[in-house]
Amino acid sequence: MSHAQVSESGTPWWHGAVVYQLYVRSWRDSNDDGYGDLRGIIDRLDYLAWLGADAIWLSPTMPSPDDDWGYDVSDYTGVHPELGTLADLDELIAQAGRRGMRVLLDLVPNHTSSEHPWFADAASSRQAAHRSYYVWADGRPDGCPPNNWLDFTGHPAWQWHDSGQYYLHNFLSRQPDLNWWEPAVHAEFARILEFWFERGVAGFRIDVANGLYKDAELRDNPPLDSGNPLEGAWGLRFVYNNNRPETHGVYRNWRKIAESYFPERLLLGETWVPDAQRLAAYYGDNDELQLGFNFPFAFSGFQPARLAAIVEQTLAALPPGACPVWMGSNHDLGRFPSRWCGGDERKIRLALLVLATLPGTSVLYYGDEIGMTDVDVPAALRRDHATLDVEGGADRDRARTPMPWDGSPGSGFTGPGVTPWLPMADPPVSENLAVTEGVWSYRTGSLVVAANFTDQLASLPQEAGEVLLSTSAKGAPSPGMLRPWEGVIIKLA
Ligand code: NOJ
Repeated sequence: MSHAQVSESGTPWWHGAVVYQLYVRSWRDSNDDGYGDLRGIIDRLDYLAWLGADAIWLSPTMPSPDDDWGYDVSDYTGVHPELGTLADLDELIAQAGRRGMRVLLDLVPNHTSSEHPWFADAASSRQAAHRSYYVWADGRPDGCPPNNWLDFTGHPAWQWHDSGQYYLHNFLSRQPDLNWWEPAVHAEFARILEFWFERGVAGFRIDVANGLYKDAELRDNPPLDSGNPLEGAWGLRFVYNNNRPETHGVYRNWRKIAESYFPERLLLGETWVPDAQRLAAYYGDNDELQLGFNFPFAFSGFQPARLAAIVEQTLAALPPGACPVWMGSNHDLGRFPSRWCGGDERKIRLALLVLATLPGTSVLYYGDEIGMTDVDVPAALRRDHATLDVEGGADRDRARTPMPWDGSPGSGFTGPGVTPWLPMADPPVSENLAVTEGVWSYRTGSLVVAANFTDQLASLPQEAGEVLLSTSAKGAPSPGMLRPWEGVIIKLA
């Protein structure tokens, strides 16, 4: 891995780089509110540098009502107050830069939040200045939605609005789709790109990169005749609601903006397409996105022949000089240590080796590096509104749980006694906590064992919780104390 801006051969920094996807709310909580934040990242940048990350992609950082945890933006040039401030982000970029690491932000150009001022205005009347920023359409003569498109939860992608028309939402109804046929939308996003590039942001991961334009005639999608989630969903093939040819023009324009900076800024697309040809199309003639995620690779099983075929097809399809991207986990798909490896440490290590050594860019999801597996989040604790009520829909919370840093209370993610926003993964079995003045304590699962190897009274370790069992014949120990040669098992609070 090289931290140089451009290598000796003139190739840009992302060739051979490791990009670390960091789900901000789950990485490190600096203010003990149970949510990770930007300050928490600043405090742990040395860890990322030690790990060898060349760049950090931050999950959405912009202000948002969080119907879809930041993928519903209400202000494209701000920072979500729960995560920090613009000054924090500036400091993060500067401090990462000092360690040779770049910062990528998540950009959501397919839709906004319904709380974005553009939509508030657009919805105020059919004559509103921003009306054309969104996709509005009349119903059919019988009043039904304009076509058969479904949103990602399987419900109609059209929301009736009091202003007398439907508006389009390919995701939640509180995520109205932008209308990319409107030139003013292009101008807005050019300004947004420049705003962040000027601040030193090294590039963007582009959400729903194959979305943006929709069929001008809003034609019905045809039936789906494949089980491949990249071809379509809910029985309909993605033909007219995404992957439209006009979208490529957006990236040709953005690429020119990206190349007008030094070092060149990076456009990494969430290219949700089923094959190497359609992925390569988003690289254009090396004049659109510099990188596009390879979902067929991530969705394939952990089978060498299948993976090798996808790698070969991808390398053959990309334009000369282009760089492929490999990843196994993300905040939507779940974690490869579970999906590919069934939690088997030998397989996880093997998968990491492959990911790190294939030619191109590898994107690690936070926790991949410690073999973190999906967490079974009980329904009552789930936080992903977007999938909570969807029968058969993926549970995305399973791969968004807090990073366990150590065996301390709060697992190093948050403070002792703080309830994290999603439950922690179980701590590793039999982790030594400490031997203090003859008292040996260690953790096993959610239990702590404390054993007093001395003839003296001793204090229990800081771990608070219910004493389940004591070896003392004298009954329960005095609170917070161990009798000489007493051992206890404590259930963590
Ligand atoms: C893809 C993002 O990764 C996902 O989390 C989000 O729900 C949708 N795009 C909508 O923005």
